[in-house]
Amino acid sequence: MRDVVHKKSVEFFEAQFQRQVQDREYALNPFETLALDYLTGSVLDLGSGLGNLSLEAGRRGHRVVAVDASPTAVARINTDARREGLSVQAIQADIGRWTIEPSYDTIVAIGLLMFFDREPALRLLRAIQERVSPGGRAIVNVLIEGSTYMDMFDPGNYCLFRRSELEERFAGWTILSSRYQTFPAPGRTRKEFSTVIAEKSRCVTRLP
Ligand SMILES: C[S@@+](CC[C@H](N)C(=O)[O-])C[C@H]1O[C@@H](n2cnc3c(N)ncnc32)[C@H](O)[C@@H]1O
Repeated sequence: MRDVVHKKSVEFFEAQFQRQVQDREYALNPFETLALDYLTGSVLDLGSGLGNLSLEAGRRGHRVVAVDASPTAVARINTDARREGLSVQAIQADIGRWTIEPSYDTIVAIGLLMFFDREPALRLLRAIQERVSPGGRAIVNVLIEGSTYMDMFDPGNYCLFRRSELEERFAGWTILSSRYQTFPAPGRTRKEFSTVIAEKSRCVTRLP
């Protein structure tokens, strides 16, 4: 059965996606554009939104699974993937209750983790790190402290990462790219992002 997620954040994006599908507004955002250059092998796109990245990855020959709570986004991705004959499958689910299986060569989570409370967000980040195949990549983008645009958050159910936190949490990985970007937002607010693209070691060390 499909998860219906009654969260302000999910309802915020569902309304936005309905508008964008009507206007056929499907441009990649700057984080997705950056991510494209780093995709390798099979791709899991968590919190895929309208799937602009997932579909473009499919066009470039990647096998992609996209997951999002928005029914409008999932329908758009599956419709376009079928029409174009791409190996892209979108699943509607609450990622907070979804298990990442099996492993993927690339796991993307652009603009997702901040929509969870801190502990679940960190649990999800650890699950992503565990499920990247040896030699594979994680592409993670979050809002960080200093962001003042709050309209899309459930009060008391979100988290802003510390500025260097993502990089720190990828200790032991090879950081291929790390960026901080600030964008103006409505009402003279701003969004501050950290994006880390990290590669997992090929050697898996097993503890005794
Ligand atoms: C900021 S948008 C990012 C979308 C896309 N990655 C992009 O870069 O355009 C956040 C996305 O996370 C999804 N999302 C938020 N909480 C979710 C949850 N608990 N389960 C599944 N998807 C969720 C929203 O529906 C939305 O598509």
